[in-house]
Amino acid sequence: MDRVFNFSAGPAALPTPVLERAQSEMLDYQGTGMSVMEMSHRSKAFVEIAEQAQADLIELLVVPDDYQVLFLQGGATTQFAMVPLNLLGDKNTADYVNTGSWSAKAIKEASRFCEVNVVASSQESNFDHVPDPSTWQLNEDAAYLHICSNETIGGVQFHEFPVTASQPLVADMSSDILSRPIDISSCGIIYAGAQKNIGPAGLTVVIVRKDLLGNARPGTPSMLDYAVHAKVDSMSNTPPTYAWYLSGLVFRWLKDLGGLEAMAEINQRKAMKLYNAIDQSNFYHSPVAAQDRSWMNIPFTLPEPALDAAFLSGAEAAGLTNLKGHRSVGGMRASVYNAVPEAAVDALIDFMQSFENERG
Ligand SMILES: Cc1ncc(COP(=O)(O)O)c(C=O)c1O
Repeated sequence: MDRVFNFSAGPAALPTPVLERAQSEMLDYQGTGMSVMEMSHRSKAFVEIAEQAQADLIELLVVPDDYQVLFLQGGATTQFAMVPLNLLGDKNTADYVNTGSWSAKAIKEASRFCEVNVVASSQESNFDHVPDPSTWQLNEDAAYLHICSNETIGGVQFHEFPVTASQPLVADMSSDILSRPIDISSCGIIYAGAQKNIGPAGLTVVIVRKDLLGNARPGTPSMLDYAVHAKVDSMSNTPPTYAWYLSGLVFRWLKDLGGLEAMAEINQRKAMKLYNAIDQSNFYHSPVAAQDRSWMNIPFTLPEPALDAAFLSGAEAAGLTNLKGHRSVGGMRASVYNAVPEAAVDALIDFMQSFENERG
């Protein structure tokens, strides 16, 4: 069996030991005589899986007691609406930082529910950096401040979270959750679609400070009310059981690896290797300001777009797949999430150098 080096932005590579474990438990999960996919979400076996996954996630992220972890559906995109519906209360404005495509989508959706203040934007320079927090025009009346901690398409990352005075910080961490330790208490809400660093698509993790529960706008559908899910441990309807189970296996894999400090060290090393290779060549170019470059999504361009197709087909032949940049940006993008091994980055750098030698 040959597994490629998969640089997909999402759904993305999963750790091979996790897939092997799932394979070994596929037909008969620990003597139950059935697959996890086939069991009731209320069964003892599944409730244990769910609780263990939740406990492991809390341990990995060091989630304080005054926060609730929710396992939901609807993707991060549903959070673009759930956040305003649950946090606005009697306020009618919210602050957003615009660092790229995903911030912009969150802003567009929130605008359906309230007045959005874009407190800072890097749009004018084609979203190549995080605007300096000292320049942000925060609004005293805003119910919260929203950031996208890692722009999956543009490859721009907040390496430090901003500090807010009174309003809760909300972070879309879809593409960098679990990539490094973070201070959960600096945020009111963190949310993430699972399909990058957590597990398969279909699950959305939300970490919410408990004092923010219970304020959903009148008329909010109950499935969009955090408090409804919090009250019943995310089992108010049938949850995405298999995605929850697989995510639990990923959490255990991360713990075995040494947790998020160890993961961060590996991620930083992987990213720096690739950025150094890009910066040291006169052939490849990174469009992102050095201090805000993502450790997870690394876009780069070739001297001419006409070379892109040859690069991609050569890479594919070398077992390096899903390197095409997002259609809105062009060029290449290497997504190097937790499950992408360092050997994949080494192989990509080798390929880039030989392509440059041939075509440069
Ligand atoms: C940063 C970010 N936010 C939100 C989303 C949307 O996630 P979903 O497809 O789970 O709704 C994505 C998807 O790639 C993303 O990368």
